[in-house]
Amino acid sequence: MTAPTHDRGDGAVASAETPVLQAVRMRKHFPVRGFRSKKVVHAVDDVDLELYRGRVVALVGESGSGKSTIARLLAQLMHVTDGQILLHGEDATTKSRAGFRRYVSKVQMIFQDPFASLNPVHTVRYTLTRSVKIHRGRLRGDELEKALDELLDRVNLRPTARYIDKFPHELSGGQRQRVAIARALAANPEVLLADEPISMLDVSIRLGILNLLRDLRDRLQIAILYITHDIASARYFADRTMVMYAGRVVESGDSESVTQDPKHPYTQLLVRSAPDPDDLDARARGARGEAPSLVTPPDGCRFNPRCPFATEMCRVELPPLFDVGVGRKAACWGYSERPGRPRLGSVLDAYGQRPPIDVNVVVRADADLAAAADAAATGTPGQEDLR
Ligand SMILES: Nc1ncnc2c1ncn2[C@@H]1O[C@H](COP(=O)(O)OP(=O)(O)O)[C@@H](O)[C@H]1O
Ligand code: SF4
Ligand SMILES: [Mg+2]
Repeated sequence: MTAPTHDRGDGAVASAETPVLQAVRMRKHFPVRGFRSKKVVHAVDDVDLELYRGRVVALVGESGSGKSTIARLLAQLMHVTDGQILLHGEDATTKSRAGFRRYVSKVQMIFQDPFASLNPVHTVRYTLTRSVKIHRGRLRGDELEKALDELLDRVNLRPTARYIDKFPHELSGGQRQRVAIARALAANPEVLLADEPISMLDVSIRLGILNLLRDLRDRLQIAILYITHDIASARYFADRTMVMYAGRVVESGDSESVTQDPKHPYTQLLVRSAPDPDDLDARARGARGEAPSLVTPPDGCRFNPRCPFATEMCRVELPPLFDVGVGRKAACWGYSERPGRPRLGSVLDAYGQRPPIDVNVVVRADADLAAAADAAATGTPGQEDLR
Protein backbone atom coordinates (compact mmCIF):
# COMPACT_ATOMS: atom_id res chain seq x y z
CA MET A 1 0.00 0.00 0.00
CA THR A 2 1.36 3.40 -0.94
CA ALA A 3 0.77 5.88 1.83
CA PRO A 4 1.00 9.64 1.96
CA THR A 5 4.58 10.35 2.86
CA HIS A 6 5.14 13.81 4.21
CA ASP A 7 3.57 16.92 5.60
CA ARG A 8 3.43 19.50 2.84
CA GLY A 9 4.02 22.24 5.39
CA ASP A 10 0.59 23.76 4.98
CA GLY A 11 -0.92 21.13 7.20
CA ALA A 12 -2.11 18.89 4.41
CA VAL A 13 -0.41 15.56 4.02
CA ALA A 14 1.04 15.34 0.58
CA SER A 15 1.88 12.15 -1.17
CA ALA A 16 4.76 11.10 -3.30
CA GLU A 17 2.12 9.98 -5.77
CA THR A 18 -0.59 11.87 -7.57
CA PRO A 19 -4.08 11.27 -6.21
CA VAL A 20 -6.10 8.89 -8.34
CA LEU A 21 -9.08 11.19 -8.10
CA GLN A 22 -9.11 14.76 -6.91
CA ALA A 23 -11.66 17.53 -6.53
CA VAL A 24 -10.41 21.10 -6.56
CA ARG A 25 -12.63 23.88 -5.20
CA MET A 26 -15.64 21.83 -6.26
CA ARG A 27 -19.00 23.56 -6.07
CA LYS A 28 -22.59 22.57 -6.83
CA HIS A 29 -25.52 24.97 -6.69
CA PHE A 30 -28.94 23.61 -7.63
CA PRO A 31 -31.52 26.03 -9.00
CA VAL A 32 -34.58 26.16 -6.76
CA ARG A 33 -37.72 25.29 -8.66
CA GLY A 34 -40.70 27.54 -8.26
CA PHE A 35 -38.72 30.70 -7.53
CA ARG A 36 -38.70 33.44 -10.10
CA SER A 37 -35.55 34.89 -8.66
CA LYS A 38 -32.36 33.05 -9.24
CA LYS A 39 -32.26 31.28 -5.93
CA VAL A 40 -30.02 28.28 -5.59
CA VAL A 41 -29.32 25.53 -3.09
CA HIS A 42 -25.69 25.83 -2.02
CA ALA A 43 -25.29 22.07 -1.79
CA VAL A 44 -21.49 21.94 -2.08
CA ASP A 45 -19.05 24.84 -1.81
CA ASP A 46 -15.30 24.92 -2.40
CA VAL A 47 -14.58 21.31 -1.55
CA ASP A 48 -11.05 19.99 -2.02
CA LEU A 49 -10.70 16.24 -1.81
CA GLU A 50 -7.99 13.74 -2.72
CA LEU A 51 -8.34 9.99 -3.07
CA TYR A 52 -5.22 7.82 -3.14
CA ARG A 53 -4.64 4.29 -4.31
CA GLY A 54 -5.34 1.71 -1.63
CA ARG A 55 -6.65 4.26 0.87
CA VAL A 56 -10.06 5.19 2.25
CA VAL A 57 -11.34 8.71 2.87
CA ALA A 58 -14.50 9.03 4.94
CA LEU A 59 -16.90 11.90 4.33
CA VAL A 60 -19.01 12.42 7.42
CA GLY A 61 -21.90 14.75 8.17
CA GLU A 62 -25.58 14.89 8.96
CA SER A 63 -28.35 14.62 6.34
CA GLY A 64 -28.36 17.40 3.81
CA SER A 65 -24.73 18.39 4.32
CA GLY A 66 -23.86 17.65 0.68
CA LYS A 67 -22.25 14.21 0.91
CA SER A 68 -24.26 12.48 -1.82
CA THR A 69 -23.90 15.49 -4.07
CA ILE A 70 -20.13 15.19 -3.79
CA ALA A 71 -20.31 11.50 -4.72
CA ARG A 72 -22.54 12.21 -7.71
CA LEU A 73 -20.30 15.02 -8.87
CA LEU A 74 -17.24 12.79 -8.60
CA ALA A 75 -19.14 10.08 -10.52
CA GLN A 76 -19.96 12.81 -13.08
CA LEU A 77 -23.65 11.97 -12.87
CA MET A 78 -24.09 15.72 -12.77
CA HIS A 79 -22.00 18.70 -13.71
CA VAL A 80 -20.05 20.80 -11.25
CA THR A 81 -21.11 24.43 -10.98
CA ASP A 82 -17.49 25.36 -10.48
CA GLY A 83 -14.17 23.72 -9.75
CA GLN A 84 -12.37 20.78 -11.25
CA ILE A 85 -12.26 17.01 -11.10
CA LEU A 86 -8.87 15.48 -11.88
CA LEU A 87 -8.14 11.83 -12.63
CA HIS A 88 -4.42 11.08 -12.19
CA GLY A 89 -3.80 14.82 -12.15
CA GLU A 90 -5.58 15.53 -15.45
CA ASP A 91 -8.86 17.28 -16.04
CA ALA A 92 -11.44 14.48 -16.10
CA THR A 93 -14.52 16.40 -17.19
CA THR A 94 -16.22 14.09 -19.65
CA LYS A 95 -17.42 15.79 -22.79
CA SER A 96 -18.80 12.86 -24.75
CA ARG A 97 -20.64 9.60 -24.18
CA ALA A 98 -17.50 7.65 -24.97
CA GLY A 99 -15.53 9.82 -22.50
CA PHE A 100 -18.17 9.27 -19.83
CA ARG A 101 -18.02 5.52 -20.33
CA ARG A 102 -14.22 5.52 -20.10
CA TYR A 103 -14.44 7.55 -16.90
CA VAL A 104 -17.06 5.25 -15.39
CA SER A 105 -14.84 2.25 -16.04
CA LYS A 106 -12.36 3.82 -13.61
CA VAL A 107 -14.71 5.49 -11.13
CA GLN A 108 -17.62 3.40 -9.88
CA MET A 109 -20.32 4.26 -7.38
CA ILE A 110 -22.16 2.21 -4.76
CA PHE A 111 -25.51 3.65 -3.69
CA GLN A 112 -27.08 3.74 -0.28
CA ASP A 113 -30.20 1.83 -1.15
CA PRO A 114 -29.49 -1.68 -2.48
CA PHE A 115 -33.24 -2.22 -2.79
CA ALA A 116 -33.57 0.56 -5.35
CA SER A 117 -30.21 0.47 -7.09
CA LEU A 118 -30.71 -2.96 -8.70
CA ASN A 119 -33.34 -3.24 -11.38
CA PRO A 120 -36.00 -5.59 -9.94
CA VAL A 121 -36.83 -7.23 -13.28
CA HIS A 122 -33.28 -8.43 -13.93
CA THR A 123 -31.43 -11.38 -12.45
CA VAL A 124 -27.96 -11.11 -10.96
CA ARG A 125 -26.66 -12.80 -14.11
CA TYR A 126 -28.21 -10.13 -16.34
CA THR A 127 -26.97 -7.24 -14.21
CA LEU A 128 -23.40 -8.51 -13.98
CA THR A 129 -23.23 -9.68 -17.61
CA ARG A 130 -24.28 -6.26 -18.79
CA SER A 131 -21.50 -4.58 -16.84
CA VAL A 132 -18.90 -7.16 -17.82
CA LYS A 133 -19.75 -6.79 -21.50
CA ILE A 134 -19.75 -3.02 -21.38
CA HIS A 135 -16.47 -2.73 -19.52
CA ARG A 136 -14.53 -5.77 -20.67
CA GLY A 137 -15.76 -6.37 -24.18
CA ARG A 138 -17.77 -9.21 -25.60
CA LEU A 139 -16.92 -12.14 -23.39
CA ARG A 140 -18.91 -15.28 -24.21
CA GLY A 141 -19.43 -18.85 -23.06
CA ASP A 142 -16.95 -20.18 -20.53
CA GLU A 143 -15.01 -16.93 -20.39
CA LEU A 144 -18.14 -15.02 -19.42
CA GLU A 145 -19.19 -17.66 -16.88
CA LYS A 146 -15.73 -17.51 -15.32
CA ALA A 147 -15.88 -13.72 -15.07
CA LEU A 148 -19.31 -13.84 -13.40
CA ASP A 149 -18.15 -16.55 -11.04
CA GLU A 150 -15.09 -14.53 -10.04
CA LEU A 151 -17.16 -11.43 -9.38
CA LEU A 152 -19.57 -13.22 -7.06
CA ASP A 153 -16.68 -14.98 -5.38
CA ARG A 154 -14.89 -11.68 -4.78
CA VAL A 155 -17.88 -10.30 -2.90
CA ASN A 156 -18.21 -13.56 -0.94
CA LEU A 157 -21.48 -14.71 -2.47
CA ARG A 158 -20.66 -18.41 -2.38
CA PRO A 159 -21.45 -20.91 -3.70
CA THR A 160 -21.84 -18.59 -6.66
CA ALA A 161 -24.35 -20.89 -8.38
CA ARG A 162 -26.79 -20.21 -5.57
CA TYR A 163 -26.92 -16.49 -6.40
CA ILE A 164 -26.32 -16.08 -10.11
CA ASP A 165 -29.90 -16.64 -11.29
CA LYS A 166 -31.64 -14.86 -8.44
CA PHE A 167 -33.77 -11.75 -8.77
CA PRO A 168 -33.10 -8.88 -6.34
CA HIS A 169 -36.28 -9.63 -4.35
CA GLU A 170 -34.92 -13.10 -3.61
CA LEU A 171 -31.85 -11.62 -1.90
CA SER A 172 -31.34 -9.97 1.47
CA GLY A 173 -30.22 -6.33 1.69
CA GLY A 174 -26.64 -7.36 2.40
CA GLN A 175 -26.62 -9.78 -0.53
CA ARG A 176 -28.00 -7.09 -2.82
CA GLN A 177 -25.33 -4.66 -1.72
CA ARG A 178 -22.73 -7.33 -2.47
CA VAL A 179 -24.21 -7.73 -5.98
CA ALA A 180 -24.06 -3.94 -6.42
CA ILE A 181 -20.39 -4.05 -5.38
CA ALA A 182 -19.77 -6.95 -7.79
CA ARG A 183 -21.36 -4.90 -10.56
CA ALA A 184 -18.97 -2.07 -9.76
CA LEU A 185 -16.01 -4.45 -9.75
CA ALA A 186 -16.94 -5.68 -13.23
CA ALA A 187 -15.38 -2.46 -14.49
CA ASN A 188 -12.06 -3.11 -12.71
CA PRO A 189 -12.34 0.38 -11.20
CA GLU A 190 -9.57 2.38 -9.58
CA VAL A 191 -12.03 4.32 -7.43
CA LEU A 192 -15.15 3.31 -5.52
CA LEU A 193 -17.51 6.02 -4.34
CA ALA A 194 -19.56 4.34 -1.62
CA ASP A 195 -22.51 6.51 -0.57
CA GLU A 196 -23.64 5.29 2.85
CA PRO A 197 -23.26 1.69 1.68
CA ILE A 198 -24.30 0.18 5.01
CA SER A 199 -26.79 2.62 6.44
CA MET A 200 -29.86 0.78 5.12
CA LEU A 201 -28.64 -2.64 6.16
CA ASP A 202 -29.26 -4.55 9.36
CA VAL A 203 -26.74 -3.63 12.01
CA SER A 204 -25.66 -7.29 12.18
CA ILE A 205 -24.40 -7.36 8.59
CA ARG A 206 -22.87 -3.89 8.32
CA LEU A 207 -19.47 -4.94 9.50
CA GLY A 208 -19.35 -7.69 6.86
CA ILE A 209 -19.82 -5.13 4.07
CA LEU A 210 -17.20 -2.79 5.55
CA ASN A 211 -14.77 -5.68 5.83
CA LEU A 212 -15.45 -6.57 2.22
CA LEU A 213 -14.68 -2.99 1.13
CA ARG A 214 -11.56 -3.02 3.25
CA ASP A 215 -10.48 -6.25 1.57
CA LEU A 216 -11.00 -4.64 -1.85
CA ARG A 217 -8.92 -1.67 -0.75
CA ASP A 218 -6.09 -3.91 0.35
CA ARG A 219 -6.16 -6.59 -2.33
CA LEU A 220 -7.10 -4.49 -5.35
CA GLN A 221 -5.59 -1.20 -4.10
CA ILE A 222 -8.82 0.61 -4.89
CA ALA A 223 -9.16 4.20 -3.69
CA ILE A 224 -12.40 4.46 -1.71
CA LEU A 225 -14.59 7.39 -0.73
CA TYR A 226 -16.69 6.16 2.16
CA ILE A 227 -19.67 8.37 2.86
CA THR A 228 -21.28 7.90 6.21
CA HIS A 229 -23.53 9.30 8.88
CA ASP A 230 -21.60 7.42 11.47
CA ILE A 231 -18.30 8.93 12.51
CA ALA A 232 -17.52 5.83 14.57
CA SER A 233 -17.48 3.68 11.43
CA ALA A 234 -15.19 6.26 9.82
CA ARG A 235 -12.70 5.64 12.59
CA TYR A 236 -12.92 1.91 12.05
CA PHE A 237 -12.64 1.94 8.30
CA ALA A 238 -11.10 5.13 6.91
CA ASP A 239 -7.52 6.35 6.80
CA ARG A 240 -8.62 9.97 6.62
CA THR A 241 -11.86 11.63 7.65
CA MET A 242 -13.43 14.80 6.29
CA VAL A 243 -16.34 16.38 8.12
CA MET A 244 -18.98 18.30 6.15
CA TYR A 245 -21.31 20.90 7.49
CA ALA A 246 -23.90 22.64 5.32
CA GLY A 247 -22.04 22.03 2.08
CA ARG A 248 -18.55 22.87 3.31
CA VAL A 249 -15.69 20.84 4.72
CA VAL A 250 -15.16 21.99 8.31
CA GLU A 251 -12.50 19.53 9.46
CA SER A 252 -10.13 16.97 8.00
CA GLY A 253 -7.28 14.80 9.17
CA ASP A 254 -6.32 11.23 9.93
CA SER A 255 -9.38 9.37 11.18
CA GLU A 256 -7.96 8.50 14.57
CA SER A 257 -7.18 12.13 15.45
CA VAL A 258 -10.39 13.58 14.04
CA THR A 259 -12.55 11.12 15.95
CA GLN A 260 -10.53 11.02 19.17
CA ASP A 261 -9.55 14.68 19.39
CA PRO A 262 -11.99 16.69 17.25
CA LYS A 263 -11.04 20.34 16.83
CA HIS A 264 -14.05 21.94 15.19
CA PRO A 265 -17.03 22.56 17.50
CA TYR A 266 -19.32 20.82 15.01
CA THR A 267 -17.10 17.72 14.88
CA GLN A 268 -17.08 17.66 18.67
CA LEU A 269 -20.84 17.60 18.62
CA LEU A 270 -20.86 14.96 15.91
CA VAL A 271 -18.50 12.67 17.80
CA ARG A 272 -20.68 13.00 20.85
CA SER A 273 -23.82 12.20 18.86
CA ALA A 274 -22.40 9.13 17.09
CA PRO A 275 -23.70 6.94 15.61
CA ASP A 276 -26.51 9.17 14.38
CA PRO A 277 -25.77 12.82 13.73
CA ASP A 278 -29.40 13.47 12.85
CA ASP A 279 -30.01 12.78 16.49
CA LEU A 280 -27.84 15.74 17.49
CA ASP A 281 -30.62 17.74 19.05
CA ALA A 282 -31.79 15.00 21.34
CA ARG A 283 -28.34 14.11 22.49
CA ALA A 284 -26.95 17.56 23.01
CA ARG A 285 -28.82 17.92 26.26
CA GLY A 286 -32.11 18.91 24.79
CA ALA A 287 -30.55 21.69 22.79
CA ARG A 288 -32.24 22.67 19.57
CA GLY A 289 -30.57 24.03 16.50
CA GLU A 290 -31.36 22.77 13.05
CA ALA A 291 -29.16 22.52 10.02
CA PRO A 292 -29.23 25.84 8.21
CA SER A 293 -31.01 26.65 4.99
CA LEU A 294 -28.77 26.04 2.04
CA VAL A 295 -30.76 28.51 -0.05
CA THR A 296 -29.73 31.38 2.16
CA PRO A 297 -26.86 29.94 4.18
CA PRO A 298 -25.77 31.96 7.21
CA ASP A 299 -23.12 34.58 6.52
CA GLY A 300 -19.69 33.92 7.92
CA CYS A 301 -19.22 30.49 9.43
CA ARG A 302 -22.23 28.37 8.45
CA PHE A 303 -22.19 26.78 11.87
CA ASN A 304 -22.47 30.12 13.69
CA PRO A 305 -26.22 29.97 14.48
CA ARG A 306 -25.65 26.68 16.32
CA CYS A 307 -22.24 27.46 17.77
CA PRO A 308 -22.01 28.52 21.41
CA PHE A 309 -18.64 30.24 20.86
CA ALA A 310 -19.63 32.41 17.89
CA THR A 311 -18.42 36.00 17.93
CA GLU A 312 -19.09 38.86 15.53
CA MET A 313 -16.23 37.68 13.35
CA CYS A 314 -17.95 34.30 12.94
CA ARG A 315 -21.18 35.94 11.82
CA VAL A 316 -19.50 38.01 9.15
CA GLU A 317 -16.45 36.26 7.77
CA LEU A 318 -16.14 32.75 6.44
CA PRO A 319 -13.33 30.94 8.27
CA PRO A 320 -10.71 29.31 6.04
CA LEU A 321 -9.24 25.91 6.95
CA PHE A 322 -6.56 26.49 9.60
CA ASP A 323 -3.76 24.05 10.39
CA VAL A 324 -4.57 22.33 13.66
CA GLY A 325 -1.95 19.56 13.70
CA VAL A 326 0.05 17.42 11.34
CA GLY A 327 -2.11 16.83 8.30
CA ARG A 328 -5.11 18.29 10.13
CA LYS A 329 -7.30 21.27 9.31
CA ALA A 330 -10.32 22.94 10.86
CA ALA A 331 -12.42 25.82 9.51
CA CYS A 332 -12.93 27.73 12.74
CA TRP A 333 -11.83 31.22 13.74
CA GLY A 334 -10.94 29.84 17.15
CA TYR A 335 -7.71 28.56 15.60
CA SER A 336 -6.74 31.90 14.07
CA GLU A 337 -4.39 34.43 15.60
CA ARG A 338 -6.80 37.29 15.10
CA PRO A 339 -7.81 39.60 17.91
CA GLY A 340 -11.44 39.03 18.85
CA ARG A 341 -11.25 35.38 17.86
CA PRO A 342 -13.69 33.07 19.60
CA ARG A 343 -12.53 31.29 22.75
CA LEU A 344 -13.39 27.65 22.32
CA GLY A 345 -14.53 25.54 25.24
CA SER A 346 -16.63 22.45 25.74
CA VAL A 347 -19.25 22.63 23.06
CA LEU A 348 -21.50 20.22 24.90
CA ASP A 349 -21.48 22.23 28.11
CA ALA A 350 -22.49 25.32 26.23
CA TYR A 351 -24.69 23.93 23.52
CA GLY A 352 -27.99 23.98 25.31
CA GLN A 353 -28.06 27.77 25.36
CA ARG A 354 -28.41 28.25 21.63
CA PRO A 355 -31.76 29.17 20.13
CA PRO A 356 -33.12 27.19 17.19
CA ILE A 357 -32.97 28.71 13.75
CA ASP A 358 -35.46 28.31 10.95
CA VAL A 359 -35.03 25.56 8.47
CA ASN A 360 -35.95 26.32 4.93
CA VAL A 361 -36.95 22.94 3.63
CA VAL A 362 -35.99 22.37 0.05
CA VAL A 363 -37.98 19.76 -1.75
CA ARG A 364 -35.68 17.64 -3.75
CA ALA A 365 -36.58 16.09 -7.06
CA ASP A 366 -34.30 13.11 -7.03
CA ALA A 367 -33.51 11.28 -10.20
CA ASP A 368 -34.74 7.72 -10.37
CA LEU A 369 -32.18 5.78 -8.38
CA ALA A 370 -32.14 2.63 -10.49
CA ALA A 371 -31.46 4.74 -13.59
CA ALA A 372 -28.73 6.68 -11.79
CA ALA A 373 -27.19 3.46 -10.53
CA ASP A 374 -27.27 1.98 -14.03
CA ALA A 375 -25.62 5.07 -15.49
CA ALA A 376 -22.99 5.06 -12.75
CA ALA A 377 -22.22 1.38 -13.30
CA THR A 378 -22.25 1.18 -17.06
CA GLY A 379 -21.63 4.70 -18.30
CA THR A 380 -24.90 4.54 -20.17
CA PRO A 381 -26.58 7.88 -19.65
CA GLY A 382 -30.26 7.82 -18.91
CA GLN A 383 -32.05 10.94 -18.00
CA GLU A 384 -31.92 14.56 -17.01
CA ASP A 385 -28.77 15.52 -15.17
CA LEU A 386 -27.30 12.15 -16.00
CA ARG A 387 -26.54 13.56 -19.48
N1 LIG B 1 -31.09 17.31 -7.58
C1 LIG B 1 -31.24 18.21 -6.60
N2 LIG B 1 -31.96 19.34 -6.77
C2 LIG B 1 -32.10 20.26 -5.79
N3 LIG B 1 -31.52 20.16 -4.57
C3 LIG B 1 -30.79 19.07 -4.34
C4 LIG B 1 -30.59 18.03 -5.32
N4 LIG B 1 -29.80 17.08 -4.78
C5 LIG B 1 -29.51 17.49 -3.52
N5 LIG B 1 -30.12 18.68 -3.26
C6 LIG B 1 -30.00 19.44 -2.01
O1 LIG B 1 -28.62 19.59 -1.72
C7 LIG B 1 -28.41 19.48 -0.33
C8 LIG B 1 -27.41 18.39 -0.07
O2 LIG B 1 -28.02 17.15 -0.35
P1 LIG B 1 -27.24 15.78 -0.31
O3 LIG B 1 -25.98 15.89 -1.08
O4 LIG B 1 -28.19 14.72 -0.72
O5 LIG B 1 -26.88 15.64 1.25
P2 LIG B 1 -26.50 14.37 2.12
O6 LIG B 1 -26.12 13.27 1.19
O7 LIG B 1 -25.37 14.84 2.98
O8 LIG B 1 -27.71 14.04 2.92
C9 LIG B 1 -29.75 19.25 0.31
O9 LIG B 1 -30.27 20.49 0.73
C10 LIG B 1 -30.58 18.69 -0.82
O10 LIG B 1 -31.95 18.96 -0.65
S1 SF4 C 1 -16.29 29.53 16.87
FE1 SF4 C 1 -16.99 30.69 15.11
S2 SF4 C 1 -15.82 29.93 13.38
FE2 SF4 C 1 -15.62 28.44 15.05
S3 SF4 C 1 -17.25 26.96 14.61
FE3 SF4 C 1 -18.09 28.45 16.07
S4 SF4 C 1 -19.10 29.97 14.74
FE4 SF4 C 1 -17.72 28.77 13.44
MG1 LIG D 1 -26.89 11.33 1.07
